[in-house]
Amino acid sequence: MTFLKPNFEVTEGRANDFENLAELYETIASTISNKAFFNWNQKKAEEEIAIAKTFLMKDEMDGSIQAFVTYRDYQDRYEISAIGTNPKHLKMGFAQKVLTALQANAAQRRLAIWLEVHENNQTAINLYLKNGFKVLNTRKRYYPDGGDALVMQFTSV
Ligand SMILES: CC(C)(COP(=O)(O)OP(=O)(O)OC[C@H]1O[C@@H](n2cnc3c(N)ncnc32)[C@H](O)[C@@H]1OP(=O)(O)O)[C@@H](O)C(=O)NCCC(=O)NCCS
Repeated sequence: MTFLKPNFEVTEGRANDFENLAELYETIASTISNKAFFNWNQKKAEEEIAIAKTFLMKDEMDGSIQAFVTYRDYQDRYEISAIGTNPKHLKMGFAQKVLTALQANAAQRRLAIWLEVHENNQTAINLYLKNGFKVLNTRKRYYPDGGDALVMQFTSV
């Protein structure tokens, strides 16, 4: 039997992606043993997705969304709301791909990218550090569990 190699593509999220995207948020929130994502659920994700922008990683074979980075475009800067990968497909470079797309877009517009990340979310911190984000400061007890937020920034220029 021949297995076709799946192809994945990064696209900008459109209205007809929103429902599936919000479902992926819910899946991640309910699967990952990562307190940093517990504050997301499908409803909150729907509200955020509607006012934000998103780069998606889709499986071209079935159109399923495998990873995303959702961000606010404040015209003078971007702020990442959330990044996530289908828990079945972690460590395959998917988050890297959507983040690279966002960074290329920000560089084109000469915008910095800001974010807050839970101090204990080492997986995400590694991803950001690997991609040139720097820790600027800390917001003490920022999260409901009492954890601090690291404020990180990426500048392309
Ligand atoms: C963080 C997250 C998006 C990474 O997704 P991913 O698709 O598995 O990441 P990638 O395969 O693209 O990995 C890129 C880099 O991230 C870091 N990383 C990813 N998984 C890691 C792990 N388990 N441990 C440590 N670092 C990790 C590494 O720096 C990695 O680069 P490397 O492979 O060269 O070491 C994913 O773990 C996730 O969805 N977590 C839950 C949601 C979340 O916490 N989001 C951040 C807050 S909004």
